[in-house]
Amino acid sequence: MSTPRRVLFVCLGNICRSPAAEGVMREHVRKAGQTELWSIASAGTAGYHVGNLPDERMQVAAARRGYPLTSRAQKLSRRHLQDYDLVLVMDEDNLRAARALAQTEEERQRVQPFWTLVGDPAVTHIPDPYYGGLEGFETVLDLLEKGCRRLLGRPGS
Ligand code: 4NP
Repeated sequence: MSTPRRVLFVCLGNICRSPAAEGVMREHVRKAGQTELWSIASAGTAGYHVGNLPDERMQVAAARRGYPLTSRAQKLSRRHLQDYDLVLVMDEDNLRAARALAQTEEERQRVQPFWTLVGDPAVTHIPDPYYGGLEGFETVLDLLEKGCRRLLGRPGS
């Protein structure tokens, strides 16, 4: 039995992309019968929405695909880089902000792009849907499903 994989998904506000990634991954892990092997959470590089549930639009879009989103927004801190094996960020701004919190090379290395898991070189970030239309939330979920499937299939770290 391999050791639990601790994964933290990170975006800017922790109310759209990263809580959705958390919900999608949780469900994929549950369906694979691997719940005990994973510890999954999410955080944001900004604190604007701390304590809030995910954006309504994302909650609705995710629920339609069978992903309940119940986490409350929290702000990313250095502590997360110590407590999680992998800190998967949604765009380059998140990457810079998260790596800026690292105080050791190991912590820095734990921060990795999520979008490369999608497996499409044309995907260079997970687009922030906050200020756009409803289709943006569907695009995010499509990308998260692809990336999470890949993450689940990877051999344990
Ligand atoms: P997220 O989206 O980073 O995917 O949670 C955003 C949520 C809130 C804001 C920006 C992006 N905001 O500016 O409040």
